[in-house]
Amino acid sequence: MDSNLAAIVDEALAAADGAANLGDLSALSARYLGKKSALAAAKKALGQLEPAERKAAGQAINEARERIEAAFAARKTLLASAERAVQLEGERLDLTEIYGEVRRGHYHLVTQARDRLEDVFVGMGFRVAEGPEVETAWYNFEALNIPDWHPARGSFDTIFVNLGEPEEVMLRSHTSPVQIRTMENEEPPIYIVAPGRTFRTDAADATHLPAFNQIEGLVVDRGITMGDLAGTIDEFVHAFFGGDVQSRLRPSYFPFTEPSAEFDISRADGSWLELGGCGMVHPNVLRNCGIDPDVWQGFAFGFGIDRLAVMRYELDDIRELVNNDVRFLEQF
Ligand code: PHE
Repeated sequence: MDSNLAAIVDEALAAADGAANLGDLSALSARYLGKKSALAAAKKALGQLEPAERKAAGQAINEARERIEAAFAARKTLLASAERAVQLEGERLDLTEIYGEVRRGHYHLVTQARDRLEDVFVGMGFRVAEGPEVETAWYNFEALNIPDWHPARGSFDTIFVNLGEPEEVMLRSHTSPVQIRTMENEEPPIYIVAPGRTFRTDAADATHLPAFNQIEGLVVDRGITMGDLAGTIDEFVHAFFGGDVQSRLRPSYFPFTEPSAEFDISRADGSWLELGGCGMVHPNVLRNCGIDPDVWQGFAFGFGIDRLAVMRYELDDIRELVNNDVRFLEQF
């Protein structure tokens, strides 16, 4: 009887282990634990035993049943979790399939140019400053020595916002208002660059965008001269374009700088390309911000980041920057 029972247990345990799925397992469980199982038959046969033997034999049968039940329960847990995993995997919605292979994006080339510019200027000791894109006439014009009667106002092709007094609120037409905001809030010495979006009524064509990006530079310190300005621009041009590119200043006019200049960079064919404007901060501008021009001097410069990207990558049309054609953007 005992060896018979042990054989039943061994067989049942092996069968449980070998069950490939829950269906097989429950059929096997009926075979080894059900009414027609060898175990059930052994239990029935207990009645024919002497009462003295019956108790021990009954206990042995119960133990055998417990071991078999435990083996089936353990196998059931295992198979159930495996089958659940298969089911979940089958039901998973693979959304990437819709877009084909996964592609990694990257920064837009104007953002790349802006980041590089910031790096170059931060490396030279400048700090990055920012200002709002919607400005009042004070910051965009007045404080920059452009009173409302000044003809230079017209040259900025300003986009006005329909708020308050006419021509009082506008989308900033250059980043120069950040000069004023910085000087109003900080004591010199000041060394900042201010990149950001700017707006003019220009219709988009191969060389113009109505919304574009500029970077402004402002230095206010003691004993600053035009030589510091020229040296800073030369240094930046070398760092950004490479050692063989030269820069030059040409006399020009801006109401907020005196003297004023345009700055150009040299091209491989020996010609010059205009990059931006610059000059010594006008004493009126310093005074408008509460800075004494007899103690402090400064220089400022500003140029278009989109234009710079056009030059650096030799693009034919500045509008490519905003067409959002992935085939174009991928190249940079
Ligand atoms: N703000 C000027 C422009 O947009 C550029 C400039 C900046 C000129 C600083 C001189 C000094 O045209």
